[in-house]
Amino acid sequence: MNVATLRSSASAVLFTLPLILKLLGTMAQIKVEYVLFDMDGLMIDSESIFMIAANESLKKYGKELTWDIKAGCLGKSDIESAKHIVSSFPDTALTMEEFVTERDRVQLALWPTTPLLPGVRKLVLHLKKYNIPMAVATSSRRRKMELKTAHLQDVIGCFDGKIVCGDDEQYGMRGKPWPDLFLTAAGELLGRDVGKPLDTPTEPQIKERSKGLVFEDATAGVQAAKRAGMSVIWVPEPRVLALDRNNIEEKPDLILGSLEEFVPEEWGLPPYDDK
Ligand SMILES: *[C@@H]1O[C@H](CO)[C@@H](O)[C@H](O)[C@H]1NC(C)=O
Repeated sequence: MNVATLRSSASAVLFTLPLILKLLGTMAQIKVEYVLFDMDGLMIDSESIFMIAANESLKKYGKELTWDIKAGCLGKSDIESAKHIVSSFPDTALTMEEFVTERDRVQLALWPTTPLLPGVRKLVLHLKKYNIPMAVATSSRRRKMELKTAHLQDVIGCFDGKIVCGDDEQYGMRGKPWPDLFLTAAGELLGRDVGKPLDTPTEPQIKERSKGLVFEDATAGVQAAKRAGMSVIWVPEPRVLALDRNNIEEKPDLILGSLEEFVPEEWGLPPYDDK
């Protein structure tokens, strides 16, 4: 081999290297066989309903939810948010109990208006069309889940009732960041042999777990999915991302600004028809 051919083959390798790496990357990617969805903040914008209800409840006391207080609630659980709001008005007689009672009352009337988040309808209908096994794993109570989704049956109906809720006591689940909700959804609802949350999984069970893809907006949910041995796409509220609340050991496999950015074929799923 002379110097000239050596040079040209070297440059050929350099030229094709990014392509080779890209191919290796795609090949290394696990082919997803089933998909699990979180609900609040991922599929539906329940946070906006929470905020409207909180704001309404404060009006009785001549107060209102400022944008500052609202920002302080981002990424917090329902109960933490309520505490934050009540503690923001130390000069009123407002108690946590009064606030929560009133907010629950207003919320009850507002749940049937809970909006879907962008990209959710398209993705769920797409996975349904191609018979990809899928389920919802939500910390929400079943009764609340029903109130929040009754008007969204064109999307929620695609799951054929495969929804596991935080208060489904028959499974004895611990909440996120424990992996129980996702393992129960995969095992009990989709019939995948992923093992039980408290048992050490066998090699085939570990492999089965790794075929699951989880969509989550909360950091505790990202932790739960990784602990379940699954891939997870984190779709955080943009301002939560800016706060860098993902300061946890378990890292998501991908971060998206919205479900609209999801590319199914990058995960071995069928591409959207309009591509
Ligand atoms: C709360 O309601 C008031 C109107 O009563 C509105 O001006 C304000 O923007 C609302 N706050 C939030 C955070 O939506």
